[in-house]
Amino acid sequence: MDLVHAITNRRSIHEFTEDEVPKDVLREIFSKAAWAPTHRMKEPWLLNIYQGEGIEPYVSAVLSSYERQGFFDNYNEEKQERMKEGIRQFLKNIPHHALVYMERDSDLIKYEEDYASVCAFIQNAQLLSWERGIGVLWTTSPYLHDPQFAEDIGIGPDTYKLVAVLQMGYPNRVPKAKPRTPIEEKMTFIQS
Ligand SMILES: Cc1cc2nc3c(=O)[nH]c(=O)nc-3n(C[C@H](O)[C@H](O)[C@H](O)COP(=O)(O)O)c2cc1C
Repeated sequence: MDLVHAITNRRSIHEFTEDEVPKDVLREIFSKAAWAPTHRMKEPWLLNIYQGEGIEPYVSAVLSSYERQGFFDNYNEEKQERMKEGIRQFLKNIPHHALVYMERDSDLIKYEEDYASVCAFIQNAQLLSWERGIGVLWTTSPYLHDPQFAEDIGIGPDTYKLVAVLQMGYPNRVPKAKPRTPIEEKMTFIQS
């Protein structure tokens, strides 16, 4: 696929078929994504892919986090249970949840460089997935900032930063493109 075509036609996917992407294909996507630029060759990306039976404990940790953050507080018990079940089913129907995380560098400059590099890795993975007909939704939900959630899934929050969860699978529906602002409104050539 032509690079410009991939960049402009890739869409964030919210609805997936139930089919799993083969592990080899996921390995190939993320191994090529790892050609992202990386200052000092730190290759800071780390990845847990929750799928199959592995989704249940992950989803339970997500629900506990929502609960801690008061997401369900304004509803009666019956409604709360229905909401939780809805979220549980919704998340369980997504074939892969690729949690991307990185080690926290105590030096802020290096931390920012690492975060930037991990984001480049994620965009590479999105484009490589798209090229193979696989959809991705890059998410940064509030539980990624909940230290207890990180503990619950076994990723020490003092050592690691949770960067994103990539929801992945074969698209059931591809949304329409949201137009981008002409770059002239954001870019200035400065020359004498
Ligand atoms: C850092 C980051 C976090 C995002 N988090 C979410 C999210 O939590 N939920 C969501 O629906 N989309 C999320 N998105 C996807 C954007 O909503 C999406 O890219 C935007 O609407 C443009 O749509 P497109 O990707 O199809 O062009 C995120 C994108 C980025 C870069």
